[in-house]
Amino acid sequence: MTFEPAKWPRKLRSQEWFGGTSKDAIYHRSWMKNQGLPADLLDGRPVIGICNTWSELTPCNAHLRDLAERVRFGIYEAGGFPVEFPVFSPSESTLRPTAMMYRNLCAMDVEEALRGKCIDGVVLLAGCDKTTPALLMGAASVDLPAIMVSGGPMLNGHFRGERVGSGTHLWKFSEAVRAGEMTAEEFVEAEASMSRSPGSCNTMGTASTMASMAEALGMAMSGNAAIPAVDSRRRVMAHLTGRRIVDMVKDDLKPSDIMTKQAFENAIRTNGAIGGSTNAVVHLLAVAGRVEVDLTLEDWDRCGKDVPTIVNLMPSGKYLMEEFFYAGGLPVVIKHLGDSGLLHKDALTVSGGTIWDEVKDVKNWNDDVILPVEKALAQSGGIAVLRGNLAPLGAVLKPSAATESLMVHRGRAVVFEDIDDYKARIDDEDLDIDETCVMVLKNCGPRGYPGMAEVGNMGLPPKILRKGITDMVRISDARMSGTAFGTVVLHTSPEAAVGGPLAVVQSGDMIELDVPNRKLHLDISEAELAARLDAWQVENSGANPRPGGGYAQLYHDKVLGADTGADFDFLVGCRGNAVGKEAH
Ligand code: FES
Repeated sequence: MTFEPAKWPRKLRSQEWFGGTSKDAIYHRSWMKNQGLPADLLDGRPVIGICNTWSELTPCNAHLRDLAERVRFGIYEAGGFPVEFPVFSPSESTLRPTAMMYRNLCAMDVEEALRGKCIDGVVLLAGCDKTTPALLMGAASVDLPAIMVSGGPMLNGHFRGERVGSGTHLWKFSEAVRAGEMTAEEFVEAEASMSRSPGSCNTMGTASTMASMAEALGMAMSGNAAIPAVDSRRRVMAHLTGRRIVDMVKDDLKPSDIMTKQAFENAIRTNGAIGGSTNAVVHLLAVAGRVEVDLTLEDWDRCGKDVPTIVNLMPSGKYLMEEFFYAGGLPVVIKHLGDSGLLHKDALTVSGGTIWDEVKDVKNWNDDVILPVEKALAQSGGIAVLRGNLAPLGAVLKPSAATESLMVHRGRAVVFEDIDDYKARIDDEDLDIDETCVMVLKNCGPRGYPGMAEVGNMGLPPKILRKGITDMVRISDARMSGTAFGTVVLHTSPEAAVGGPLAVVQSGDMIELDVPNRKLHLDISEAELAARLDAWQVENSGANPRPGGGYAQLYHDKVLGADTGADFDFLVGCRGNAVGKEAH
């Protein structure tokens, strides 16, 4: 792929605000000067936005103002004029009902800020799970030059001599308490050890996965994903990113030039190689929709199928992001894909060159962290896309986090109608369930929860945990935290709340899961299924009432299914950066 830089100098977009001597130009410049700006900052140099998801209520992004200063240095050095601005910051750890419900709000905020403001290019600062896809989505819909710099992961956690991963050990310790193997006091004691520095989750959870996706897509500089938040080289990365965006504006290098179908295929294969989060499926589908690339669940299955998982990080493996960085980080993984014939080597990146140029000379410094293929955690590490009468529009499962012996399984359904029903009955010693059963959770999809909560990896009943059993087949229309594990079927579409077949599963039905053959089957007759679905429509015609206004109502009315990325129907697509009317 070749990229032809635009001729420079050319008239910058920002000069539509600041150029000339009209009343409007003087009005715009005058107000900016109340911040103490020399006149030459507005004389035609690129105005570079620093789009910041900093928030003290998004602890994973709470250090981003420091990084923004480093970006600012780089922009000034390269001859640009930096302007930092905040956008809504959806936090995985503090936002209710779900951060996912607000991903699209953040993306809207980014899109409208970029289009409506006097910006020529933008540096996207993100770290927590939803902030990364939201910023990519918003930037893609405006298609101004854009580059991402991630906040970076936290340092390793340690508790009583054991390496402790964000999220992953929350689930493990929580199950240990329920099984009577750990006291509640010990659980509380472990709390501080899980989060011991600024940064995002230190496992290969959704945050690290999405940072890796940004790098594999070509939207961040090579090496961006793994540098720990507190490592001095994270600041260097921010500084260099600030320098680079100015040249990207000069060359008019846009997201649509970088995020091509080839780039998404590279990202999907990278996700398989790193054992990345299932959440990447909905997020990349949504980003692709914004840049008008035709990406489907079939692409996830096709591209990910033959990719071995070689990154030995929790939740699939044993190490954490700090060790991944020391081993060489994502460039080593991308080089491996290239050497294996699994990379579109000529895909363009924010560097202006190809992705292969960035990685072809890197080395693996620890082959217990980045494994040779013969020692891969899973030979088929991609996301498995399942279909059948239970999931006509698809469902997903992460083989590298699942139990091999459960990948082909037939079991009796134990149904929970919603998350409240699950919470009310799961600890009941009289619950009619054993380890061969299939746990089914309904009404946790995009519209049902709302926001498609990360509850798909529902904890097992205590009486089963006490037998030492830690995994069972679980099926839902929910998502699962990227830090979680298990034989968990997720994103079942259509979701129960809109009348998908999941809505009519009954306790006692038999369900067949066959991952090698990509099958998810409810073992009842076609006629019985049709009759149940008809009855559901009658019984639920007035159910699931529309929220009474506000963003929740907008979300309810406009959210699409998980199979296409759970974006809003009216936000799919690229709307460009032209402003409808001048402000004055
Ligand atoms: Fe924000 Fe994991 S909760 S990065």
